[in-house]
Amino acid sequence: SKKLLADVDCGVDDAQAIMLALAAPNVELLGITCVHGNTTVENVCKNTLRVLQACNKLEIPVFKGAAKPILGKRIDAGHFHGQDGLGDAPDPNAPALDLIQKEDAVSAMIRIVNENPGEISLVATAPLTNLALAVMIDPSLPSKLRGLYIMGGNTESRGNTTVCGEFNFAADAEAAYIVLNDYQCPIYLICWEFTCYSKLSWEFCDAWLAQDTDKARFMARIFRHSIEASQSERLQKEFVAGTGFVSCDSYAMAAAVDDSFIVESDQYPVSVELTGTHTRGMMVVDTVDLLKKTHKAFIVKKVDMEMFKQMMMAALK
Ligand code: BDR
Ligand code: CA
Repeated sequence: SKKLLADVDCGVDDAQAIMLALAAPNVELLGITCVHGNTTVENVCKNTLRVLQACNKLEIPVFKGAAKPILGKRIDAGHFHGQDGLGDAPDPNAPALDLIQKEDAVSAMIRIVNENPGEISLVATAPLTNLALAVMIDPSLPSKLRGLYIMGGNTESRGNTTVCGEFNFAADAEAAYIVLNDYQCPIYLICWEFTCYSKLSWEFCDAWLAQDTDKARFMARIFRHSIEASQSERLQKEFVAGTGFVSCDSYAMAAAVDDSFIVESDQYPVSVELTGTHTRGMMVVDTVDLLKKTHKAFIVKKVDMEMFKQMMMAALK
């Protein structure tokens, strides 16, 4: 079976990604590390436990990581995911936070990868602070990964957070820079524009949520806020090319779950802008090889959408 480790800022699409992984056959999710992002790291921990509870998988260890980016102030995405990060639909029976492991997320990441050299697919669907800290403490970490799957960055300088910055990269530009430069392992990038071009139709979402299961009812509750937010003028502008829902993080998870999910990708050296008047946090794609970097990342261009819909459906079964 495939061994996965997920680093999340458990908002609505992170929750969808986690549920997709939990439903996938032959996949073992060894742990979930939490980081600031869509909301505070405390909320992220709570949200992750709620998702695991909804799937009867509370035995999966959850670790608390960085509360803020390497430089500057923490930002969040409450306008989309709700202030609590999970649609502001609180659950009176939510699991208690004492279920969070005592070990911190960065130590856990380093330990789990070292215990399974060459076997772990690390899926990062959040600001990359934990991953950056981990490689600074253990520079050998990337060489022990099977692969790194990142939802983040952009390829057409379309931002969803700053003018040119995608949320996960803009929320910790230094961490994104460190990760793209120091993780010399296969890196698969699911970038913002790609997810926008690969929306799930609202018809699909209706059928998805209409499944008669507790998981579907849980998803319908936490999802409502983002569905409504998707209709806002700002998000209509953000969501380039047509209507539908963009479950960004689920694509990165699906790619880690099944190698045949990625149908087409380009290989380029990539980096992140750290200064600039409007461009801090923007991903830089070196198509002409001017950076003279030996390491190239896979920028995902096309995925198997039928497989994706099946995986999403199974997530709520
Ligand atoms: C990313 O930002 C977050 O709000 C989502 O969970 C996703 O990881 C999209 O830019
Ligand atoms: Ca996320």
